[in-house]
Amino acid sequence: MIHTVGVVGAGQMGAGIAQVAAMNGFSVLLNDVEDAFLERGMKRVEKSLSSLVKKERITEEQKKITLERIRTTLDIQEFSQVDFVVEAVIENESLKTDLFGQLDAICGSHVILATNTSSIPITRIASATQRSDQVIGMHFMNPVPLMKLVEIIRGFTTSDETFDTTRELALQLQKTPVTANDFPGFISNRILMPMINEAVFALYEGVGTAEAIDDVMKLGMNHPMGPLALADLIGLDTCLSIMEVLHAGFGDPKYRPCPLLKKYVEAGLLGRKTGKGFYSY
Ligand SMILES: NC(=O)c1ccc[n+]([C@@H]2O[C@H](COP(=O)([O-])OP(=O)(O)OC[C@H]3O[C@@H](n4cnc5c(N)ncnc54)[C@H](O)[C@@H]3O)[C@@H](O)[C@H]2O)c1
Repeated sequence: MIHTVGVVGAGQMGAGIAQVAAMNGFSVLLNDVEDAFLERGMKRVEKSLSSLVKKERITEEQKKITLERIRTTLDIQEFSQVDFVVEAVIENESLKTDLFGQLDAICGSHVILATNTSSIPITRIASATQRSDQVIGMHFMNPVPLMKLVEIIRGFTTSDETFDTTRELALQLQKTPVTANDFPGFISNRILMPMINEAVFALYEGVGTAEAIDDVMKLGMNHPMGPLALADLIGLDTCLSIMEVLHAGFGDPKYRPCPLLKKYVEAGLLGRKTGKGFYSY
């Protein structure tokens, strides 16, 4: 029985996952490495809940109850109290494997450790633990409170029980689970990220301005958002990490990250989260 969900990383995804879990009745323990990051995460939840109140999707009382269900902590040892973990730290393999080793030592033996990674092999993250059958990918979409999809990715040794419990949790969070196997980028980023990378190449080569590229995809292909605006929303550092995983994982030059994407990341222009990417915010 899952009562408390532990979320590691209070960034845009972690805050969203914490919010959705709390909105659906779970107690949430939210962890990050600095107070300022926890505060920023809780502000994000506050803002998102306020906008749901404004749209009359929830009441002021529901907002209050949801906020009360989320507790923050800097101490990962407190995860000995949680029943299910969703990890949402930055997209960095050694950071995630270290963290899973730690969580394995801290969490109760029944606890499933899920990762929200966009592209890092679940099997590799699982092998950093002694419970690889209880490790799984639970890939939420951004913004978490609004997007229905959760991609569920089984690692090589993920058990049926772990899969069933995770799928059930996704349904309890009012999401629609879709299953993918553990190949680089899974389904979502195998298809999305090369499109975004190609849009950056089109900008790099001067085929069109950022606005023109996004307008073509919005007006011509009926995408709700252009690929460059979407890259800014996802975070250009995350986009680059995912392209690097696809490139390394498949060894195919068609996945090479665009040099312009690398330049933006080197310059610290990461999109919305830093106020500037392909657009200014
Ligand atoms: N941004 C997206 O659109 C998107 C979509 C789906 C999945 N993801 C995945 O979700 C994960 C998080 O992405 P994000 O966009 O929320 O990133 P983000 O940069 O907004 O947040 C990451 C958070 O992790 C924290 N963190 C770093 N190291 C930590 C540690 N050791 N312990 C605890 N917290 C730590 C950071 O301080 C930061 O607050 C990544 O794996 C990413 O690939 C992102």
